Amino acid sequence: MAYGVALQGSIDPGRSEKEVEPSLSWPPDLRGDTLTPVTEQKPTTYWDYIQIEELTALQSGLAESEDEISNDEVLFITVHQVFELWFKLILRELRTARDLFRKEPVAEQELSGAARSLERVTTILRRCTDHFEVVETLTTRDYLAFRNKLFPANGFQSRQLRQIEIVMGLADEDRIPFGSERGFLAALKEPDGTPSTSMQKVCNTQAEGASFREAIDEWLYRTPIDGVSLEDPDSAASLDRFLSKFLDAYDSESASSRSIALANAKGSADAERIEELYSDERASVRAFFSPSESKGGARRRRIRAAALFVETYRELPLLAWPREILDSLVELEQQFVVFRQRHARMAERVIGRRAGTGGTSGVAYLDKTALKYRIFRDLWAIRTLQIRREAAPELDKPEYYGFLHPE
Ligand code: HEM
Repeated sequence: MAYGVALQGSIDPGRSEKEVEPSLSWPPDLRGDTLTPVTEQKPTTYWDYIQIEELTALQSGLAESEDEISNDEVLFITVHQVFELWFKLILRELRTARDLFRKEPVAEQELSGAARSLERVTTILRRCTDHFEVVETLTTRDYLAFRNKLFPANGFQSRQLRQIEIVMGLADEDRIPFGSERGFLAALKEPDGTPSTSMQKVCNTQAEGASFREAIDEWLYRTPIDGVSLEDPDSAASLDRFLSKFLDAYDSESASSRSIALANAKGSADAERIEELYSDERASVRAFFSPSESKGGARRRRIRAAALFVETYRELPLLAWPREILDSLVELEQQFVVFRQRHARMAERVIGRRAGTGGTSGVAYLDKTALKYRIFRDLWAIRTLQIRREAAPELDKPEYYGFLHPE
């Protein structure tokens, strides 16, 4: 086998010219019932396809012409536009993945596609986070030179970020009050109080129905635990058995970590503090599996147990992709937190601790969103109670999660 430059006509970079079958012809024959004959198709140009003239004519902000504004302001506008384009793609991918999980049953063979969508969203968001570095080439004085004309516009009015949050499932009660507005929708009204197009689009997104979080909850709720499905008359008792076995295993793992921590304690006060930490942790793990009715009761308990089950037994073939999905969601949410924190640090560097153009406390508000906005809380919570694989209780029916499980 000759190695080197890939040869035209071969899709295998390791094949030599002589090995390539001569059957491929170029250009391909596009004449068919449904395809436009090659001869009638106008040659495509880059400028038409990318709409380059339209695109590069959009960076003048409030001015008649781009020539009237500084490079700093063009940068400011362009960076925001780049973000909005990425947000657009994020929304598309999230909707596609969410819709898969709204189906009943969720097609297992499509889970890898959903994982790919989530991976793409995370990658885009990571790039968005890097973009803040470009904004930081703007000094405080550079920004102050044109900042006053922005009032009261601000990123809070980015309807696409609000749509992303809604599609993901950020609960309204978890939102941080912005300032004087009554709800985040009010900030999307036109200056005369009428609904803006942005506001209408956000309302349409709210009307789309189940969010990603709700769809994932429903999917987890239906997940068979230790081979017993939700419809099985034994499902509640079997769930109790699984959780009781698991919590015993957790207690014993936690006890051994506690002994090690106590052996390293620096004096009796430190030991007391460590005892308290471990006892609080055990209490919160038990409370996690006894949610009150207002927190979802038995349904929420099963959802949490299912997430834990999938993570704990992820080597079983039928659990491998579901586990990838849960992990991708945590990774995505983690990236969102990093994105929000990065934005806050960039803002602090450029405007310090002054109030935002939109009327919030500025960086203090942004930091609160980074700390508080969590959507997949249960997926994060089960990280606290996972245990080593060898310590996990044996399953009654592991064969159920083989490639060919009995119906
Ligand atoms: C000089 C650059 C920037 C500064 C100083 C800045 C500062 C701020 C501040 C203070 C807020 C809080 C709202 C307010 O009272 O104004 C905010 C919100 C926001 N900004 Fe920026 N920002 C900058 C650039 C950007 C860029 C490039 C993006 C990219 C899209 C962005 C996206 C957002 C979003 C989405 C919010 C709403 C956050 C939320 O409510 O969760 N900002 N920004």
